[in-house]
Amino acid sequence: MNDTVLKNIPLFADLRDEILEKIFDLMQKRIYKRNNMILMEEDVGDTLFILNSGSVKITRLSDDGREVILSILGEGDFFGEMSIFDGESRSANVIALEDSEVFILKRGDFLDLLEKHPKIAITLLQEMAVRLRRSDQQIEGLSLSDAESRIAMSIIRFAEDLGIIKMGQVVIESLPFQQDIANMAGTSRETVSRMLKMLEVKGWIQRKGRRLVITNYDEFVKEFG
Ligand code: CMP
Repeated sequence: MNDTVLKNIPLFADLRDEILEKIFDLMQKRIYKRNNMILMEEDVGDTLFILNSGSVKITRLSDDGREVILSILGEGDFFGEMSIFDGESRSANVIALEDSEVFILKRGDFLDLLEKHPKIAITLLQEMAVRLRRSDQQIEGLSLSDAESRIAMSIIRFAEDLGIIKMGQVVIESLPFQQDIANMAGTSRETVSRMLKMLEVKGWIQRKGRRLVITNYDEFVKEFG
């Protein structure tokens, strides 16, 4: 492992090589297997996590014990910043959706970096604004009455967060499991399964294993977004 991996982390974009080397020396690497809990809601936390490979789900439990997925993060994303900034306990659970490698940075080291390199702070704030907008959309979306619209909105979120756009199509290499999609859309796994089949039959999507292709993304967003 060397510091060139940090070049692919948006938070550290455009930093000089010698700065990346210094940051790299401050970080610890850790591997989590699929379904491992990385952070637990209510735990005290003073570390920042950067996802070098894999994906994670951010979850909370509803009052009746159901898992609610707030977001899914992929390669290059960070998490754990909220406790660092407000000093409160972890705001949510973070669970590996697949085998994942993370870099961990201590609170003091991270705050030092932000002071020395305001560019990192600006990128971080931009990403936090994106997350707040998405949360706002999710709140609005959850009040939509039909489950189908909520599932379609979740698929659009996955496309934005995990997808790769190619000639009008969006390819999601590793679609979250149907139960996870259901937990994000606030519906049942069976409804998700039915909806995916319907979208496939109507030609909106193609599926092979966990790979999902949205055949015409602009039209999909117009129809369901
Ligand atoms: P922290 O509260 O330290 O630990 C849980 C982490 O989950 C939190 O920091 C954020 O990094 C992340 N998180 C919490 N809520 C959301 C959300 N709505 N969207 C994306 N990430 C979130």
